[in-house]
Amino acid sequence: MHLQEGFSGKTIVVTGGASGIGEACVKLLRARGAQVLVVDCDLDKAAAVAEDPALAHQVDVSQADQVNALAERIAASGVEVDGLVNCAGIVQSPLPPDVLDVDTYRQVIGIDLEGTYFCCAAFGAAMARRGRGAIVNIASVAGMRSMPLHAYSPAKAAVINLTECLAAEWGRSGVRVNAISPGYTVTAALQSQIDQGLRDPEKLKQNSALGTLIRPDDIARPVAFLLSDEAAMITGINLPVDAGWLVAGSWSTFGGVRPASAAG
Ligand SMILES: NC(=O)c1ccc[n+]([C@@H]2O[C@H](COP(=O)([O-])OP(=O)(O)OC[C@H]3O[C@@H](n4cnc5c(N)ncnc54)[C@H](O)[C@@H]3O)[C@@H](O)[C@H]2O)c1
Repeated sequence: MHLQEGFSGKTIVVTGGASGIGEACVKLLRARGAQVLVVDCDLDKAAAVAEDPALAHQVDVSQADQVNALAERIAASGVEVDGLVNCAGIVQSPLPPDVLDVDTYRQVIGIDLEGTYFCCAAFGAAMARRGRGAIVNIASVAGMRSMPLHAYSPAKAAVINLTECLAAEWGRSGVRVNAISPGYTVTAALQSQIDQGLRDPEKLKQNSALGTLIRPDDIARPVAFLLSDEAAMITGINLPVDAGWLVAGSWSTFGGVRPASAAG
């Protein structure tokens, strides 16, 4: 899939495509010519984003039988899936272990980690049998640093490792598997955390080198790059798209990054 030529003739599945980063991926990949199948637990929103309701599918990615049934339905309809973007995910509140309940813990692991694995297994195995395909898993900078998110952070760290495992598994079969780790991206999920007072947008900005929050489109463009043949020799990587949060966060010990140099 060449970036310049776009994704014409290609079919790409986007999980969590009804909202946020997934929605931005759906719109960008469609604008570049792909037929995009929008997979989400919220069918109404998925259908609205898909434009054609036939391209929207209601699936809970944490349920392997639902994921496998979808992959079989798509294959039976004669559609071959060329690309997969795993965006379906949930966040959690920053709670200490004695407050974080087991059901929430299992739900986060079940959707963010197991759901990503189930989708990779169902669609990636079919790609491997055909000898071509590309997968992008949306992890998080939370999977690369310690945070008070004792289910979410380990789940995302595992997604990064899973990406490496599957890249090695399917490399000889022509399937590339990469991850993107977004920093703080203004979506409904983050906005709700901000609205509840669980995240302070000013602090998030202060702690990034570029001094800005990220927009869903800023994630969708690198996703499209990793799906395309422009990235033909890239597999098994985790690409942070974080406005420099990973490099600037530790500067808070020294009062934060310096302000912009005066112009001229
Ligand atoms: N927004 C951020 O700052 C940020 C940062 C790093 C990583 N991420 C990751 O990016 C991905 C997308 O996040 P977002 O901010 O766009 O969130 P969002 O809530 O806007 O979108 C997530 C989508 O996933 C769907 N979904 C949730 N559970 C599902 C399930 N069990 N089965 C199928 N669909 C399900 C939701 O219905 C929703 O449409 C998530 O994996 C999230 O962890 C987000």
